[in-house]
Amino acid sequence: MNAHVGNNRALDAYWMPFTANRQFKEAPRMLVGAKGMYYRSEDGRQILDGTAGLWCCNAGHGHREIAEAVTRQLEEMDYAPSFQLGHPAAFAFAERLKALAPEGFDHVFFTGSGSESVDTALKIALAYHRARGEGSRTRLIGRERGYHGVGFGGISVGGIVSNRRHFGTLLTGVDHLPHTHDLSAHAFTKGQPETGANLADDLERIVALHGAETIAAVIVEPVAGSTGVLIPPKGYLERLRAICDRHGILLIFDEVITGFGRLGTPFAVDYFGVRPDLYTTAKGLTNGTVPMGAVFAQNHIHDAFMTGPEGSIELFHGYTYSGHPLGCAAGMATLDVYESRSLLTRAASLADLFEEAVHSLKEAPFVKDIRNLGLMAGIELQSRDGAVGARAYEAFVKCFEAGLLIRVTGDIIALSPPLIVEEDQIGQMVETLRGVLETID
Ligand SMILES: Cc1ncc(COP(=O)(O)O)c(C=O)c1O
Repeated sequence: MNAHVGNNRALDAYWMPFTANRQFKEAPRMLVGAKGMYYRSEDGRQILDGTAGLWCCNAGHGHREIAEAVTRQLEEMDYAPSFQLGHPAAFAFAERLKALAPEGFDHVFFTGSGSESVDTALKIALAYHRARGEGSRTRLIGRERGYHGVGFGGISVGGIVSNRRHFGTLLTGVDHLPHTHDLSAHAFTKGQPETGANLADDLERIVALHGAETIAAVIVEPVAGSTGVLIPPKGYLERLRAICDRHGILLIFDEVITGFGRLGTPFAVDYFGVRPDLYTTAKGLTNGTVPMGAVFAQNHIHDAFMTGPEGSIELFHGYTYSGHPLGCAAGMATLDVYESRSLLTRAASLADLFEEAVHSLKEAPFVKDIRNLGLMAGIELQSRDGAVGARAYEAFVKCFEAGLLIRVTGDIIALSPPLIVEEDQIGQMVETLRGVLETID
């Protein structure tokens, strides 16, 4: 049977991602326009974007510069193969990204999404060890409650049970560190928790169990986003780096969410001052406009590949859409927008205000934790008995009806507004949310 909206339009054919399809099609929420901090719903309402789309529209919506750059590129050259051929925009974009990246990350591999960036980084890690004669290093270490997209690599190292349990076969040779979220010790912490760095030591246990010579890489999100904004304890990432160094294990940061200004620095690498060997990005790379990802590699990783015979393909990996001309055009125009408005550091100047605003929800109904860093916040609600996620979902629907887009995962609400957000809009988000929490049971 076809599902219909008011105007009898069929909704059946589109199998929606990460969506309760049947429920949605009974009562669709349609977005039809976007400008600045707002979406426009199909029924003509302004919806304040509290989530930068899906953590991706860091500069807000509807930038003419980006639209014009993409249009120009489309007219000039719509597509070009990137295998054994090149086009200028891909090289120019990589140079711009290199200039933005922390020192020593001079090489960028382009992908089509965050999931592809993750798979790419994992494959580079495996191939790196092989290239250096350490082919026994095949084991990959992720973390509980990590989200690394939906490729087989990403769901295997990721730690979200639903992303794993539905699919049976995963990569073998994968272990997980414990997650760092300890409500009993950290509830309502502002910024990084003081305790918990020792959780990184679990990597020593895994090393002792399997032998360092079997382990290729550890991948973590510097701040876990999709599982509800989990902030790393002070010293945790540093400790992980030190243990990796001790055992010759590569460290990968998944910066698909934290990249491009979310914490008030261009990358979380800058914010925490911890240097992984590789880091993955997507989303904010093009402000969400054209699907694209990029993996940043430290020079020693890249250089390890540049050794074989001249004519050999050093990294046997790539996508039809790697370095897509439209993505590169969108990305360069996005960097212009970020730079001309100082957006990649703007979150630093808003972080205190944002922190105070979100923590003012502490006494709101059902709130059992609030945590924040930069322009990211997680607000965790008590779950209804036997119905985990139902309360936050209701809050999501009611916020949408009240003109605010939030993101929910389980019973955690995430806020991550575009970096152009103004003080009064932060206030509007928090007051809308407070009002909604007061109406649900
Ligand atoms: C940390 C992280 N890695 C990877 C991904 C996957 O990105 P994509 O959905 O573009 O494949 C996401 C998406 O939210 C993410 O948050």
